[in-house]
Amino acid sequence: MHRDIAEVLFSEEAIRQRVRELGRAISHDLAGREAVVMALLKGSVLFFSDLVRSIDAPVKVEFAWASSYGKGTESSGEVLLKVFPEEDLRGRMVVVVDDILDTGRTLSAVVDRLRNELGVTDVRTCVLLDKKARRTARIEADYSGFPVDDVFVVGYGLDYADRYRNLPYIGVLKPGCYGA
Ligand code: XMP
Repeated sequence: MHRDIAEVLFSEEAIRQRVRELGRAISHDLAGREAVVMALLKGSVLFFSDLVRSIDAPVKVEFAWASSYGKGTESSGEVLLKVFPEEDLRGRMVVVVDDILDTGRTLSAVVDRLRNELGVTDVRTCVLLDKKARRTARIEADYSGFPVDDVFVVGYGLDYADRYRNLPYIGVLKPGCYGA
């Protein structure tokens, strides 16, 4: 285990199993239709790449960049958003994939943009972690991996100041590692 990690919350194996289940659920709901699966950069990239391999249906991939956290552990409240669709998404089913649903502001902003500006009528959301206690926006994910308490987590794509994304598990940082 990395020396900055106090506790592992979700092991590599637990994540692998749960991602497979999410992929199966999405595949089932797609019922053979082609989905557009959209990764929210950067945090969801590891989850996204495992998830798309668990989807047993034709998929196209798209990317959006969203940020509300800056360098700390507290949200700045403002959502910076760039959506880079390569093709017309109207009439498509778009599954937006994020690492964690926290206050919900980021995912709400992305869903609104897809619906109101890009004309997507069937938007689904898939998150690996759900920190329900901190929700302020009115949004729940259609597919959700694990509930998580109100602790700041890193690993498997999640970062603190852009570090720890490459850890294969998800854990809690030692208190002394914040602001270091
Ligand atoms: P909101 O509050 O908009 O936030 O739902 C979603 C984004 O905030 C980041 N986030 C975290 N990142 N550990 C992280 O590394 C956390 O515990 C955490 N909570 C929120 C994340 O990028 C997510 O997309």
